[in-house]
Amino acid sequence: MEIVPVGPGFAAELRGVTLADVAADESAYEAVRAAFEEHSVLVFRGQDVTDEAQLAFSRRFGPLEITKVGSQGVGTNLVILSTIDATGKVVPADHRLAMRNRANQLWHSDSTFKRVPALASVLSARIIPARGGETEYVSTRLAWERLDQGLRDRLERSFAWHDYAHSRGKIAADLASAEERAALPPQCWRLAWKNPANGRTALYIASHACAIEGMEPAAAKKLLAELMDAATAPGRSYVHAWRSGDVVMWDNRATMHRGRPWPAHEPRLMVRTTISATEADGLASIRPPARQAAE
Ligand code: OGA
Ligand code: MN
Repeated sequence: MEIVPVGPGFAAELRGVTLADVAADESAYEAVRAAFEEHSVLVFRGQDVTDEAQLAFSRRFGPLEITKVGSQGVGTNLVILSTIDATGKVVPADHRLAMRNRANQLWHSDSTFKRVPALASVLSARIIPARGGETEYVSTRLAWERLDQGLRDRLERSFAWHDYAHSRGKIAADLASAEERAALPPQCWRLAWKNPANGRTALYIASHACAIEGMEPAAAKKLLAELMDAATAPGRSYVHAWRSGDVVMWDNRATMHRGRPWPAHEPRLMVRTTISATEADGLASIRPPARQAAE
């Protein structure tokens, strides 16, 4: 396996290894896992992508999320991201599917609003538009390391509330349905996630972050916006331009990502598997003290 760095201080393409190798072979898994802990975003090109291959690869890394209500693929381990309706047509821009894709174009980390946050996501491109539709990543580990020590000390003691309805509300007031709101109550996590494999800390924020525990709302909003801007400043990102056969895996503890727009009349179809974080992935480092005692 060859590791070729592709981004500004994070993100690497792995050559000479396939999804099937990782699914079948413990030593291939160990090598890819080590690269994942180190590089945060892994790119695999020229893969034989099927749902089954993607699922078998993903299962190696931990328990898979079950797709939530309101998403395409609900109840399975696959999330389908597309703007294609049941009849195979591309939906208009004001359709819920199109608005959901626009919500994915806000900088975020996956599943910060869930009771169990995500370790990693694995995304494959199945239908790719002729232009646009890239996925862009930043390292929140490097963002953390750029913050001054005083702010880091403060953030390490601070907890943010993450709410799915909040991020969807930025696109349309009712984009999160009543059913989704009921299933997804806001979650509170520390603003810093420490990776137990290497001791490195990352800023843990997302489009879903809406408040900071114990902080006046306007001041919290301002601080969250400043942290977002610093983390996503120009020149800090890796932009993945999708080709057929590509699979990208990222560490939701140490990165944020966003989809990039593409011409609305063109179809795009992506399939994601999402791996839940476990205690071994450092969950204790983000859990509020009250919940640590309760669990
Ligand atoms: C995701 C996501 C963005 C994209 O799969 O979690 O945010 O480019 N995707 O489709
Ligand atoms: Mn996402």
